[in-house]
Amino acid sequence: MKPEFLALGLLGSLAAAVPVQDLTLRAPSSEVPRLVLYYQTTHDSLGQPISMLPLITEKYIALTHLIVCSFHINLDGSIHLNDNPPDYPLFYTLWNETQVMKDAGVKVMGMVGGAAPGSFSAQTLDGSDIAFEIYYSQLYSAIVEYELQGMDLDVEQPMSQAGITRLVRRLRSDFGPSFIITLAPVASALRGGANLSGFDYKALETAVGSSISFHNAQFYNGFGNMASPTDYERVVTQGWNPQKIVAGQITTPSNGGGWVPYDRLNATIAAIRTRYGQIGGIMGWEYFNSEPGGLAQPWKWAQVATAILRPNDVPQLRITRDRAQRLTQSWKDSVSATAPASGPDVVAAVVPDVEPNVDYMAMVNA
Ligand SMILES: *[C@@H]1O[C@H](CO)[C@@H](O)[C@H](O)[C@H]1NC(C)=O
Ligand SMILES: *[C@@H]1O[C@H](CO)[C@@H](O)[C@H](O)[C@H]1NC(C)=O
Ligand SMILES: *[C@@H]1O[C@H](CO)[C@@H](O)[C@H](O)[C@H]1NC(C)=O
Repeated sequence: MKPEFLALGLLGSLAAAVPVQDLTLRAPSSEVPRLVLYYQTTHDSLGQPISMLPLITEKYIALTHLIVCSFHINLDGSIHLNDNPPDYPLFYTLWNETQVMKDAGVKVMGMVGGAAPGSFSAQTLDGSDIAFEIYYSQLYSAIVEYELQGMDLDVEQPMSQAGITRLVRRLRSDFGPSFIITLAPVASALRGGANLSGFDYKALETAVGSSISFHNAQFYNGFGNMASPTDYERVVTQGWNPQKIVAGQITTPSNGGGWVPYDRLNATIAAIRTRYGQIGGIMGWEYFNSEPGGLAQPWKWAQVATAILRPNDVPQLRITRDRAQRLTQSWKDSVSATAPASGPDVVAAVVPDVEPNVDYMAMVNA
């Protein structure tokens, strides 16, 4: 990463200048419009952790939900975060930083599933009650261990209606009313068009809709588009509450098809709000390479999305000296860890004594 990626020295003064919000005044509906971002690529091409903290330390970003992904349920194996167990040292920085994000008021969720099949198969989470208990317990443990505040179910393989209903009900009963349960359908699946999940989202809404906070609807890759309000309106006219439909966008043309220029997206969102009063929010897939900042300044996407959704609502940052020291240490420990498996997010070699490219100590403000 380039040095400007880490130019965070002004953070302390920025955070101090922001008036402290009374969190008790925040009714659940005030999270709308949401700004949701998936965080999947955890390391850069040098094997160094990609810090998520600019999303709270840079100005003019009102991120509401960060979704750490992708958790995969492996048949006859253990749960993985991308290519490795989530407790692998590679992820020390990730799990230390999510604590800071939460303190700043950002909801930190996980996502299970995605493009790689397996998590929702008839042998795993969509299986017999015995199979379900085995694999669900891995998901349950990950939520507990990493203190995840919600789980996004990105079902991109056929799953039964009974299976998805069982999973939603179980998460709700195990984690209580404040736990955030979301799904990530392709947009067309919300109106009876092309789908990847098999089951019927309207029927799921009828069965357990009160347990589902919102949908991260994928308006890209040919399943919907936000270049105009048409596709979003097609979903809403099927009976969906627009406050529950977050418009998913790819954050760069590199991440898929159907990228929409930001002035165009702004015009679409404005039209939707004129018509329905509000929109559920904007979701971005994914953080590390978002335009317009690209690899060097991926948080700029969140600045643009905030300008579209709601300027001047910046989450709070609070970092003590002790926490900054721990973040510095976990960054070093992440980088020096040796990798047990191969894969795109694995450190290739032991890198001794590398100083973090994030100045955590400069963030101390409490
Ligand atoms: C989902 O798509 C498949 C074809 O790919 C279709 O058979 C099925 O009926 C669809 N499900 C719903 C609920 O529309
Ligand atoms: C979005 O469009 C509105 C007009 O509809 C305009 O006032 C506003 O400045 C635009 N915002 C951005 C971020 O482009
Ligand atoms: C934070 O990093 C340290 C290593 O510096 C590690 O021992 C600890 O488990 C990490 N915290 C979490 C929650 O992963």
